[in-house]
Amino acid sequence: MKPVSENRMTAQLSPQTGLQVDLPAFLTRQQHRIHLVGVAGSGMSGIAALLIELGHTVSGSDKVSTMETDRLQRLGLRFRGQHRPEDADPADLIVFSSAIKSDNPVLVGARDSGKTIVRRAEALAAIMRSKHGIVIAGMHGKTTTSAMTAHVLREGGLHPSHYVGAEIPILGSNAHWDPRGEHFVAEGDESDGTVALFHPEHTLILNIEEEHLDFYADLGAIEKVFSQLITQTTGKVFYNVDDENAARLCRSFTHGISYGFGETSDYRAVDIQLKDFASTFRVNHRGQDLGEVVLNVPGQHNVHNALGVTALASELGIGIEKIAKSLAKFEHARRRFEIKYDSPRFLLVDDYGHHPTEIRATLKTARSVGRKRVLTVFQPHRYSRTKALCKEFGRAFDDADRVVVTDVYGSSEAPIPGVTGQMIADEIDAHGHRGVSYEPRLEWVHRTVGNMLESGDLVLSLGAGNIHEQLSALAAELVIAEKLKEIVGKDGEVRLYEPLSKHTTLRVGGPAQFWVEPRNEKAFAGLIKFCRDENLPLFVMGRGSNLLVRDGGVRGVVVHPCGGVFDRIEINGPEITAGVGAKLKEVAYAGKAAGIGGMEWMEGIPGAVGGALRMNAGAMGAQTFENIVRVRYLDADGEVHTKSRDELEVHYRNFPLLEKNFAVSAVFRGQPAPLEEIVRKLEASQEKRRASQPAAKSAGCIFKNPDSCPAGKLVDELGLKNSHVGKARVSEVHGNFIVNDGGATAAEMLELIEKIKATALAKRGIELETEVQIVGEPG
Ligand code: EPU
Repeated sequence: MKPVSENRMTAQLSPQTGLQVDLPAFLTRQQHRIHLVGVAGSGMSGIAALLIELGHTVSGSDKVSTMETDRLQRLGLRFRGQHRPEDADPADLIVFSSAIKSDNPVLVGARDSGKTIVRRAEALAAIMRSKHGIVIAGMHGKTTTSAMTAHVLREGGLHPSHYVGAEIPILGSNAHWDPRGEHFVAEGDESDGTVALFHPEHTLILNIEEEHLDFYADLGAIEKVFSQLITQTTGKVFYNVDDENAARLCRSFTHGISYGFGETSDYRAVDIQLKDFASTFRVNHRGQDLGEVVLNVPGQHNVHNALGVTALASELGIGIEKIAKSLAKFEHARRRFEIKYDSPRFLLVDDYGHHPTEIRATLKTARSVGRKRVLTVFQPHRYSRTKALCKEFGRAFDDADRVVVTDVYGSSEAPIPGVTGQMIADEIDAHGHRGVSYEPRLEWVHRTVGNMLESGDLVLSLGAGNIHEQLSALAAELVIAEKLKEIVGKDGEVRLYEPLSKHTTLRVGGPAQFWVEPRNEKAFAGLIKFCRDENLPLFVMGRGSNLLVRDGGVRGVVVHPCGGVFDRIEINGPEITAGVGAKLKEVAYAGKAAGIGGMEWMEGIPGAVGGALRMNAGAMGAQTFENIVRVRYLDADGEVHTKSRDELEVHYRNFPLLEKNFAVSAVFRGQPAPLEEIVRKLEASQEKRRASQPAAKSAGCIFKNPDSCPAGKLVDELGLKNSHVGKARVSEVHGNFIVNDGGATAAEMLELIEKIKATALAKRGIELETEVQIVGEPG
């Protein structure tokens, strides 16, 4: 192939050494040893791939290895996981990433030994100069559009080489050298001004606006770089005339070709129809209809991108039918509106958008998909951008029903004091959005949004960092949640990350990973089998009256049998059959209504039948199993059994059968009694409770009563009433109650419990044992 450009990049001046090298010839017509510093970066790995394909012996160093470096190693890259100068010793040329600092040991070593050192973009510009270069430039949509261009040119038989900023499934890799073709399509990176190094034949300008203000002083500085690129373009400059800045800048150049939706555009899209995941439009060239394009990537911005590609490909002589056919086949780059999970109930989409304009466009697309609500999780990218564009971010989320903002992904930047995700959350809130929250712990984002989910939601993750991992975590959990939903049917309820503080009387505790409410035995049995088969932990929870859940919540499935058959209470003579979800109190009152006495003490127990069975709850000198006739339960395989009282082993505050089995209902027995007697006993219980127990939020008695002395009396005698840790406080009313003064954490509760235990042991030699069940993981 003959060299293309007349204006050759001879005598390339290496900025580091002053050595003069004909870089295009060096890189594309000779074979050398080349070392890349920071080879794992997305841009650098593309250069490595090109150099390997060009026949060079390529080595590279980086502190991290990635899937991409693994792939390159298979192609011949000699990868080093450290930056050691000696690894670059044999190299004739060093290429370094803009993320590499000047004191990097390989760079220092190379400088000392007088090697030629070039920046990534210089190497790319030089490689491009041996072909007909096509640069795709602009603030948003570069990767998609450069991939689209390479794809259309490839389908058009032009055998293009390409270099784009991300792994592109349809192209096979992020960079490829094809010796057969004359064109080289490259995504130009404006972030550090290096786009001005290119001398392409054609340029496609998508949009221009304020970005990368860590590098540029203002919009004027950005436009200067673009102007230089345009001036250096020898062929045509295709520009989006609907983008104000691009239009203003490019209009004056005679070699400009405009594209857009307005009548004056050289290439114009008309009859645009935006659908859920696709768009169709007709292309009109200076008044002449060329034909229809079907684009299988959504969003109006992609219609613009595809129109730009159509204009460029047409000018290169590819027929519209061929272009349309290629565009119809085009698939998205990874992390560009990438669907991670799709079911009739939920749609999870990930997008790389991290600039306000991109976010607005992507949210518009998400909105147009037609799901009921759009929930967004956003990870700001870079401290400098967060600071500079905070106001714009505040206005970018109008199309989202809910927004969860997490903390900034710094990339290579050091934190700027005071610049956090909170800034953006506050700005969105100040802008009037009513559904924004801040979750600084990235690893908890999927929990927060998971708990917001309602059938019909689309969840969109946005950001150029690692927020997509949270969406993947959510997608994996939804797979399980949907199976659980299938088991409990339409009457049942499944929620992700339900806060257990809502379901415990103490009002503390982290969330349940899967919160499931079955309404019948069959569903409950199905859950038991599913958890057994899938090796998922299963925990059954009633009214949470005797429960202390740690702040990290409970992993696995938390089954809350309630409603339906579980709340049912039936009376048969002196027997009362109650489902495990019914309140024990209600059993006492059902007894009153039917003239059955002996169960009045149950009035004072805040829990449900299931919990009362599990721990053989008691009050007023009585305990649950004194009234029990039969228990119906499911075993570990989900099989139903019924056992009568004399078959059951029961202890003080302990019923071992339910350690591995799950109660579904119980039959209680009292004795016929006159109504006045029942009422009198109920009132006595109420009165004792009111007089001796706190009304504040608590988990009932915290400790079991030791033989020697009731725990409440012991705590009282030790002078620990009213002692506290944070908002957890020993009740002044009863020493065996710890109350939540509002917003207490489980950690505070546990610390207070430990203090009481230590004091009881030290001062009285008594080992207190907790009665309250403590579950879950630390926060
Ligand atoms: N006492 C004190 N100071 C206190 C608390 C109690 O001196 O701060 C004295 C009382 O005056 C009484 C004795 O300790 O002489 C026992 O107290 P109480 O009668 O209140 O009974 P308890 O043993 O502390 C038990 C159950 C409660 C149930 C009551 C009512 C246990 C661990 N507790 O409490 O159950 O409500 O009887 O009959 O068995 C629960 O299990 O969660 C619970 C609240």
